[in-house]
Amino acid sequence: MDKTKVGIVGCGNISKIYFENLCKVFSDVEVVACADLVEERAREKAAAYPGVRAVSLDEMLRDPAIEIIVNLTTPRGHMPVSLQAVEAGKSVYCEKPITLTREEAAKLLATARAKGVRVGNAPDTFMGAGIQTCRKLIDDGWIGEPVAAVAFMTCHGHESWHPDPEFYYQAGGGPMFDMGPYYLTALVNLIGPIARVSGSARISFPERVITSANKFGARIKVEVPTHVAGTLEFVNGAVGTIITSFDVWGANLPRIEIYGSEGSLSVPDPNGFGGEVKVRRAGAKEFSAVPLTHAYAENARGIGVADMAAAQRAGRPHRAGGELAAHVLDAMHAFHESSDRGVHIALKTSCERPAPMPMAPFRGTVGD
Ligand SMILES: NC(=O)c1ccc[n+]([C@@H]2O[C@H](COP(=O)([O-])OP(=O)(O)OC[C@H]3O[C@@H](n4cnc5c(N)ncnc54)[C@H](O)[C@@H]3O)[C@@H](O)[C@H]2O)c1
Repeated sequence: MDKTKVGIVGCGNISKIYFENLCKVFSDVEVVACADLVEERAREKAAAYPGVRAVSLDEMLRDPAIEIIVNLTTPRGHMPVSLQAVEAGKSVYCEKPITLTREEAAKLLATARAKGVRVGNAPDTFMGAGIQTCRKLIDDGWIGEPVAAVAFMTCHGHESWHPDPEFYYQAGGGPMFDMGPYYLTALVNLIGPIARVSGSARISFPERVITSANKFGARIKVEVPTHVAGTLEFVNGAVGTIITSFDVWGANLPRIEIYGSEGSLSVPDPNGFGGEVKVRRAGAKEFSAVPLTHAYAENARGIGVADMAAAQRAGRPHRAGGELAAHVLDAMHAFHESSDRGVHIALKTSCERPAPMPMAPFRGTVGD
């Protein structure tokens, strides 16, 4: 069967792993075009990957052979590029967050539905071996009913390594919008949708100094909260605690733990595909490591695109879906809003838990 033809918009930092995996690993898709506002970046990628043409976004959208647009622009570009794509009758898979505002996300999803095309969204790390092993353990009853969870992402921001880190401190950035999607998507995949949240947020350092090579010494004005603490109540009654922070130099916190009626589960870093999974069942004296049950323990970014292509062909829902991403966006805004207003925020969105991954798909495919 023909591969699904894909165009990539945004040829910056994260695009390398997408090009690698979509061109060399996943066999359901074929990258045929790329675009960037900085044309040189698109030309470089086209030169590096045979069969890929550097084009303008307009040209890409006019090409009837291209079915999926992969939007890897910075957060401000997510809505304009994704909306143009779905209006042109293309399915779109975008980096996180899905859009800046909830209203934009709702409009994007409605437009896609009206056009009969799909919206997919990062992260797709929850489709990797680590989180899928955790999902299987929960679904198979190893920790009983999840009653509580914690999720901690602490670091000191990205200005020490990213060549253009400004966007991390503008709307659509900050630790909640940048890293929250990994943690919240993993939690929703493992426990289910969120009913309401509360939060407290602050900007600890109003200015940041870039120490990565090209812009060394340049200053960034911080426009969004950089330390966000929150609680989550899931629809199933479980209670979660989350911290996302760009203000912490060091911590000894776990990434994610899920506490169940029959035991506890230690979940690996949701910003990766593999990692160590550990369980401590009621009565056990310590945690035990569990072998990974699923495929894709290495950096498989782009697996969400491959899954969307396969799902489109098979007529089944794709896993890294737009409703899931819009629900996560709703929660991220709600933490900030709760902090501003001093009240719990009930979420207006919900979503299905994505289907678990098959345990042993053929290499380079996603299976059903
Ligand atoms: N860098 C990472 O490690 C990383 C990891 C995971 C996810 N992400 C996400 O990926 C996205 C991109 O991040 P990045 O680090 O690659 O940023 P980047 O700044 O390195 O690259 C973004 C590219 O998009 C281009 N661009 C912006 N708006 C455009 C538009 N309207 N049309 C065409 N091109 C446009 C820019 O010129 C730039 O080349 C962000 O949403 C980020 O949150 C980044």
